[in-house]
Amino acid sequence: MENILPLVSSGKIEIIKSEGCFLFDSRGERYIDMESGVWCVNLGHNHKKINRIIQRQLEKTTHLGSQVRSGLPEKLSEVLLEKLRLYNGKSVFLNSGSEAVDLSITIARHITGRRKICTIEGSYLSAYGQGVSSNPNKELISIRNNDYEKLSSIDFSNIAAFVFEPGTAWGMISFPSEQFITAIAKKARSKGSLLVVDEVTTGMGRTGIWFGYEHYRLSPDIVACGKGLGNGYPVSAVSLSEKTAEAFGKNPFRYAQSHQNDPLGCAIALGVIKELDRTNLIRRTEEEGILFKSLLKNICHKHNQIKEIRGKGLMLAIAFHNEENAKQVHQFLLEHRIICGQKLNMLRFMPPLNIEHELILEVTQTIEMALNDMAAK
Ligand SMILES: Cc1ncc(COP(=O)(O)O)c(C=O)c1O
Repeated sequence: MENILPLVSSGKIEIIKSEGCFLFDSRGERYIDMESGVWCVNLGHNHKKINRIIQRQLEKTTHLGSQVRSGLPEKLSEVLLEKLRLYNGKSVFLNSGSEAVDLSITIARHITGRRKICTIEGSYLSAYGQGVSSNPNKELISIRNNDYEKLSSIDFSNIAAFVFEPGTAWGMISFPSEQFITAIAKKARSKGSLLVVDEVTTGMGRTGIWFGYEHYRLSPDIVACGKGLGNGYPVSAVSLSEKTAEAFGKNPFRYAQSHQNDPLGCAIALGVIKELDRTNLIRRTEEEGILFKSLLKNICHKHNQIKEIRGKGLMLAIAFHNEENAKQVHQFLLEHRIICGQKLNMLRFMPPLNIEHELILEVTQTIEMALNDMAAK
């Protein structure tokens, strides 16, 4: 690791193989990946059907220039727009979620001729641009859930977009109230701001429904997808509603990059969507999510170190009263070869959507062991 730039902290466990919810180290030890990598492998690691699609597409073509076409982006756009219910809209395919969110914001700014954007506090948005790594600036207005007082003070007439990230996985797995989001969207719309939804993490069934914004009954102007769209392969999408695409069409701009609408990424994303449909996995995610959450809630009732259980579908979190408890349970789980996320006082669970019920039981039983162990000390 000495020659790797330490931009994020990296673990010491060396993984040589992955399959489904499991990671295997060189000694053959098995780990349960309750993070799906970085919340990407919704269909599980090393998915045989997706692997076959990759192999087949590798033997055809992986990357093309803009003077020719493969037909795959058009097919993917049709399927994705249908899922997003952005009928007659348009999409473009990029690589990372950060690119997709950044381009979505750029398009919103271009169409409205405004610079500012409004988000819910704790949103990640992107590794750059207006995202989490950017310095605090006057162009980004963030608002806390249910802060109606602040909402009434925001002048949306100079805001390009309300950029809504349902759930905020990077933040604390908190889904803002539907009433509040509806109020922001209504106010934003009335002043000509666009509604951009960041579905990079909540898309592709993660919350038990195709897209996180569907919990809010919103109709977005622009949607950014990524992560689960490629099941671990970097492909992302920006999709525009018909009206937004028309506005862009009247005053387009050039946005060139080498890997745009690449056939390999598009073939994979088409395969992922097909597989989610074929296996009825999203319905199952909703059901398993309810069971997982109720098991966590049972633990919460028995152990007063836990403040609350949050989340939707298979995007769940335990919030402890203090950070130390979260760290101790995280460490205990790691020692029992269960990988979950930990941030401040929170543990995050976002496993592959096809996780077996037995594994959910194993994880919840191990969490309970950790809490009993702590209580005994
Ligand atoms: C909600 C959300 N949007 C955008 C991104 C950025 O996506 P990527 O890491 O693929 O660039 C992330 C990354 O975690 C995210 O959680």
